[in-house]
Amino acid sequence: MDINNHIKKVLFTEPEINERCIELASELDKEYEDKKPIMLSLLKGSVPFATMLTKHMKISLEFDYMKASSYHGTISSGNVAVTLMPSLKLENRHVVIIEDIIDTGTTLSTVTKILQDLHPASLEIVTLLDKPAMRKVNDIKPKYVGFIVPNEFVVGFGLDFNEDYRHLPYVGVLKEEMYK
Ligand code: IMP
Ligand code: MG
Repeated sequence: MDINNHIKKVLFTEPEINERCIELASELDKEYEDKKPIMLSLLKGSVPFATMLTKHMKISLEFDYMKASSYHGTISSGNVAVTLMPSLKLENRHVVIIEDIIDTGTTLSTVTKILQDLHPASLEIVTLLDKPAMRKVNDIKPKYVGFIVPNEFVVGFGLDFNEDYRHLPYVGVLKEEMYK
């Protein structure tokens, strides 16, 4: 069974995501020139976006990874578990968190509090997708956003439903019958 048939509608194609990544990369290049930022990719969802975004960046940078999860199925549980911490020393470094999607904001609210305690020189967020209608916290304002999405459950380009669909090359809306 071809999982492309589980998708109700494609929102952003790979070429569209690539074009947006070129724009975001050039903004980041300007902001972080001579700062050698740490691009901190949140596992697992942000990996395809982190790869596509950073391949267009021309400045020096370092990669790191962190894992925090709050999701079970299609509903945010509100319990955020950090299961992997960054391996680099973040103190006095410019850190850019890379996320796949901001929904309620709970995950990033927890993550930024933990990271602030490590005293980075600066801490910003770049997210592929933002669902501002779903926000439950008011302290999360991503500086760099790829696309705003409506309140629908989306998969692909790193985003999963029960760990599947991350490998789709586009972002699409999952048919309700797949999770109801
Ligand atoms: P938040 O803590 O509610 O902001 O949730 C953020 C996390 O929930 C993201 O990192 C995703 O893993 C997941 N998430 C939120 N909305 C969606 C969606 O529409 N599709 C897939 N995952 C989602
Ligand atoms: Mg995630």
